[in-house]
Amino acid sequence: MCTLLSNRVHIHILPLSVIISEGIDRYLVMLHEIVFATNNRHKLEELRRIIGDRLAIRSLAEIGCHDDIPETADTLEGNAAIKAEWVRKRYGYDCFADDTGLEVDALAGEPGVLSARYAGPAHDSAANMALLMKRMQGVADRRARFRTVIALAIEDRDIELMDGTVYGHIADTPAGTAGFGYDPVFVPDGCGGLTFAQMDADAKNAVSHRGRATAKLVRRLSEIYGQQSI
Ligand code: IMP
Repeated sequence: MCTLLSNRVHIHILPLSVIISEGIDRYLVMLHEIVFATNNRHKLEELRRIIGDRLAIRSLAEIGCHDDIPETADTLEGNAAIKAEWVRKRYGYDCFADDTGLEVDALAGEPGVLSARYAGPAHDSAANMALLMKRMQGVADRRARFRTVIALAIEDRDIELMDGTVYGHIADTPAGTAGFGYDPVFVPDGCGGLTFAQMDADAKNAVSHRGRATAKLVRRLSEIYGQQSI
């Protein structure tokens, strides 16, 4: 199979003999290119795993964007929209961006929109988790949820927002090595008491905040781009 590249669309073509014998419509597949406004390799891997080869997903680095995009809004919705708009405006790509928060009931929704910087500006996941566990010491009500908001910026359309939530609780002690961020301390409801970091990627994606928001994204993109291409 060879791949022809244009600005926004990748066209995969199989060998001519196969195309002639089975019909061109069946084998000419248009793959839309869209930027996921992140350089977090864990998030990219999760998204690519969920979406599969239905879209050509590019990271910020892959389009040459090394900007420190300001996340100055005080909501997940606001920050996701800033990132998606930044890429569309300055780089001219269709784009989606996500912002995720871990919202803990006993901490009045903290760390929430500050999840990445809970222990300071260094975006240090281990330090963030340690601070959370310190604040949750001796706290009986451990209910929490992860919430992801995805902002979608396509051509000149208004930004569209979609979200996904998973309910669960904060573990007494961290467990597991898979995943990233707060995964070792978050126990999703209905998954046998395992933390996200004790689950394999497909099991996490099937119930996770990002998995749920991404399912909405895929549905919306297939409406916008056309059913046959995604
Ligand atoms: P952001 O959306 O990349 O800004 O994520 C905010 C914070 O939540 C970061 O500290 C991430 O590590 C953490 N985070 C985001 N998604 C997940 C997840 O799926 N599991 C655990 N932590 C996450």
